[in-house]
Amino acid sequence: MGRLENNNVIVTGGARGIGRAVCELFAREGAAVAVTDIVDDEGQDLVETIKDAGGNAAFWHLDTSSEENVEQALSEVSDRLGGINTLVNNAGISGTNKPTHQIETEEWDKVIQVNVKGVFLCTKHAVPYMQKDKGGSIINLSSIYGLVGAPDLPAYHASKGAVRLMTKTDALLYAGDNIRVNSIHPGYIWTPLVAELAEASGQGVDDFRRQLDDKHPIGHVGEPDDIAYGALYLASDESKFVTGSELVIDGGYTAQ
Ligand SMILES: NC(=O)c1ccc[n+]([C@@H]2O[C@H](COP(=O)([O-])OP(=O)(O)OC[C@H]3O[C@@H](n4cnc5c(N)ncnc54)[C@H](O)[C@@H]3O)[C@@H](O)[C@H]2O)c1
Repeated sequence: MGRLENNNVIVTGGARGIGRAVCELFAREGAAVAVTDIVDDEGQDLVETIKDAGGNAAFWHLDTSSEENVEQALSEVSDRLGGINTLVNNAGISGTNKPTHQIETEEWDKVIQVNVKGVFLCTKHAVPYMQKDKGGSIINLSSIYGLVGAPDLPAYHASKGAVRLMTKTDALLYAGDNIRVNSIHPGYIWTPLVAELAEASGQGVDDFRRQLDDKHPIGHVGEPDDIAYGALYLASDESKFVTGSELVIDGGYTAQ
C-alpha cells in the first residue's frame, strides 16, 4: 500500500481490460486516478467501485484520437487533481485481422489513429504539465507485437512497433526534464480485446484460448493484473533510473 501516494495519474482506455486493472491497482496504492475512456458508463461504474473501496478516482470522456478532446480533458484533470504526474497510454484497438493485401486504407488508418496518434496526442498535451511539476512518468502500452512478427494483424504490428520507438525518442527528449518514458510489452492477456478476437476467429472461444495458451512457455495467457504490476513499478519512484526501456511481460513468448 502507498507506493503511489501524491501521484496524480491519468489512464487512457481505463474502463476495461488492462487499463481497468491499472486504475484499480494504482488507486489501491494511493494514487489519485483519472479514469478516461470512450465507454462512459463502464468508466463511471469503475470510479464508483474504486471509491467504494476507499480510493480516489474520477471519470473523463477522452477519445485519444481527438486532439480537442485530449487537450480539454487533460486540462480539466490537471485542474481537478492539481497536476499530472503519470500518464498511462493504454487505449488501443486490434483493428481488422486480414492479410495486408486485403486491408482497406480506412481500416489501416483507424488503427494508426488510435494506437499511434493517440499516444502522440496524449504525450504532447501531458508533457507541459509534467515539465511544470519538474518530472513525471509516461508508460506506453506496446505489445509483443511491437517486438516480433506473427502472421496476423498487420496494422496492429505496425502501430505497436511505432509505439516502441516513440517511447525511446521521448525518453531521450525529456530525460533532462526528469520525465521518464517506458514501454510495456504484454504477451496475450485475456481481456475484452482478446475475447473479441476469439469470437471473430470462428474456431470457438475455448479452442482459440487453448491455442493462445500454448504460445506462451509458461503455459497460459496472462491476466490484466500481470501488466498492472509492471506499470506500478514504472509509475513509482522505485524505477527512478529507468527510462527508454522495454518491460516485457509475456510468459516467455519472445524468449523463444
Ligand atoms: N490484451 C492483450 O493481449 C494485449 C497484449 C499486448 C498489448 N495490449 C495492449 O494493451 C492495451 C489495452 O488492451 P486491452 O486488451 O485491455 O484492450 P480492451 O479492448 O480490453 O480495452 C481497451 C480500452 O480502450 C478503450 N478505447 C478504445 N479506443 C479508444 C479511444 N479512441 N480513446 C480512448 N479509449 C479507447 C476501450 O473502450 C477499452 O475500454 C492496448 O493498447 C493493447 O494494444 C494488449
